[in-house]
Amino acid sequence: MKILVIHGPNLNVLGKRDQSLYGSKSLAEIDSMLREQGAELGIEVTSFQSNHEGALIDFVQSESPQAAGIIINPGALTHYGLSLRDALTDAGLPVIEVHLSNIYAREEFRRKSIIAPIVRGQISGLGWQGYAAALRILATQACSPAAGPGAKGR
Ligand code: DQA
Repeated sequence: MKILVIHGPNLNVLGKRDQSLYGSKSLAEIDSMLREQGAELGIEVTSFQSNHEGALIDFVQSESPQAAGIIINPGALTHYGLSLRDALTDAGLPVIEVHLSNIYAREEFRRKSIIAPIVRGQISGLGWQGYAAALRILATQACSPAAGPGAKGR
């Protein structure tokens, strides 16, 4: 089973961004931790980061047919990335949205996620451990179309 881990704009500079919001781990460290965790769970983890919405969409379109689920931190596209949202919907896979910071405890514009209505669930404010939790959850839920309380079969 393959899980896609997708990181949106500015997440390539994790570790250098405001550490009180985003933590001290670099993106490479987070991706490597997820690959190791995936190996323990028997899951292949394929990570991708881009600062460009179109490149994220191209990745979703080309890789989703071979994948069982998606973990995505869309960065600021969370709040306005409608084309990315459409691509995630079209992928037809269970998606978990992850935010390092608690987007509900920040500026008003961050409190609305246009991605949230089409995902199976969202983890916000738990730092890098949010990705680890999402991977554990997808490992158990990705194969069952409507698994989990509140799931709508996505
Ligand atoms: C973020 C929150 C977004 O509002 C912000 O634009 C990011 C990171 C997070 O992980 O907390 O780039 O998605």
